[in-house]
Amino acid sequence: MKKNTMVTVAFAVVLFYTAFLANPVCAQAAQKTGDVQKPIPAEVMKFLEKSCMGCHAEGGSKMAMSVVNISSWDKYSPEKQAAKAKKMGKMVTKEKMPPKSFRSSNPDAVPTKEEIKLLCDWANSLQVAKK
Ligand code: HEC
Repeated sequence: MKKNTMVTVAFAVVLFYTAFLANPVCAQAAQKTGDVQKPIPAEVMKFLEKSCMGCHAEGGSKMAMSVVNISSWDKYSPEKQAAKAKKMGKMVTKEKMPPKSFRSSNPDAVPTKEEIKLLCDWANSLQVAKK
């Protein structure tokens, strides 16, 4: 009986170490594929919900979702997220997004200077570090 307990303990110890040893491997893999994915910050999300997600999210326009779908943001790779965020900043800065018709029917959702800055700062923060 006692011997059995010892075996169980030894087995548990081995499992424990295996789990520990596996961890650095995971960390290396994450570093290799570039920066770790980051969720959209709450304040940026609030703006996107108001001004973009009527079209660029589940239930929105098919055309809009094919270029940027905020509902499946997590599925984009970090590189793709960075590229899309940069494009979003550009489109909003140039006043091409949200579209004119949307601006005139939703004056409250027209991005303010502060919101544009918020979006661009966030987009810049996503730049994947060059190797
Ligand atoms: C009324 C619907 C609507 C709203 C609101 C809207 N978009 Fe779009 N957006 C579209 C459609 C449709 C397209 C694809 C066709 C096009 O490029 O005009 C698009 C395309 C884009 C593209 C890709 C452009 C390209 O040339 O690749 C970006 C980036 C974008 N939108 C960002 C945004 C952002 C950021 C917001 C919110 C500030 C926003 N959109 C709000 C409908 C919308």
